[in-house]
Amino acid sequence: MPGDMKACWEEKRTLVNEYLDKWIPSEETPPSQLHKAMRYRLFAGGKRIRSILALVAAEVVGGRELQALPVACGMEMIHTYSLIHDDLPAMDNDDFRRGKPTCHRVFGEALAILAGDALLTMAFQIMGDLALYPPDVEPNRVLEAVKEVAVAAGSLGMVGGQVMDLEMEGRDQQEGAEEALEWIHVHKTARLIEVSLEAGGIVAGGEKGDLALLKGYGRRVGLAFQIVDDILGSQGDRERMGKPVGRDMERGKLTYPAVYGVEASLARAKELVEEALDILRSFGEQAWFLRGLAQYVVERDR
Ligand code: IPE
Ligand code: IPE
Ligand code: MG
Ligand code: MG
Repeated sequence: MPGDMKACWEEKRTLVNEYLDKWIPSEETPPSQLHKAMRYRLFAGGKRIRSILALVAAEVVGGRELQALPVACGMEMIHTYSLIHDDLPAMDNDDFRRGKPTCHRVFGEALAILAGDALLTMAFQIMGDLALYPPDVEPNRVLEAVKEVAVAAGSLGMVGGQVMDLEMEGRDQQEGAEEALEWIHVHKTARLIEVSLEAGGIVAGGEKGDLALLKGYGRRVGLAFQIVDDILGSQGDRERMGKPVGRDMERGKLTYPAVYGVEASLARAKELVEEALDILRSFGEQAWFLRGLAQYVVERDR
């Protein structure tokens, strides 16, 4: 990753971490075990892609990153909840994530479920709290952003994708596997990435046309992101990624490498990134970070 991108990423990551720390109850706040579990996963060294995209989107549409900070932190909380639940024995049954034992391995299943529930709920509390926004954010825009995030995270979005992901386990040879695969990946992963950009743009006063472009970019980068996650999950470096390799195959997951092979999967991810870059063209120079991020998605090793 080029130096200017790394610096910008680091600066935004620090901002998000600082505010998450400020807005999430401390470990001492009762029920202490619950807040410990929430913080354990939230501060385990995630890349913070969704929150950073929300902040960048605010700037790209002509606003300021602080306008999108509650939305950015909310997206990171929803993402973390989705991972805690994704790792549960009833779902992917994984023991490691971000280089540490998964939430249920440390705190038990009941607390992991409840920590996820609490993170999801608190995300909407923070995104909906007008007092947390600068005075120049319009309440109507907050309302619209919150609604879009709810749709993207719910049964018609991420949760729906997770359900299909589980239903399709062991069915990679089945007719229609290709369409099911794209549907799953768009819903379980791309929708949250897409809406991070959209919601960040909405609260920062973005115009309809710009928001549509951000969504188009987010959909493609989000799908490419999950394709690369599949590839890394099949042949990546366990240490770099902080999660096990080969688990998808063990569970018979419908993944891009399983259906198309690694080479064709990577080619598809690159094609999506090209489309995403094309969509950004009308933003000109101000979209430099989004351009770099699209590139990073196919080059990443963690
Ligand atoms: C992992 O997401 C789950 C997917 C949707 C592929 P990330 O790779 O963004 O996870 P963290 O937040 O950096 O751990
Ligand atoms: C994660 O998908 C998607 C969500 C949690 C919504 P995966 O199950 O494929 O991702 P990893 O490999 O566990 O991070
Ligand atoms: Mg999963
Ligand atoms: Mg998983």
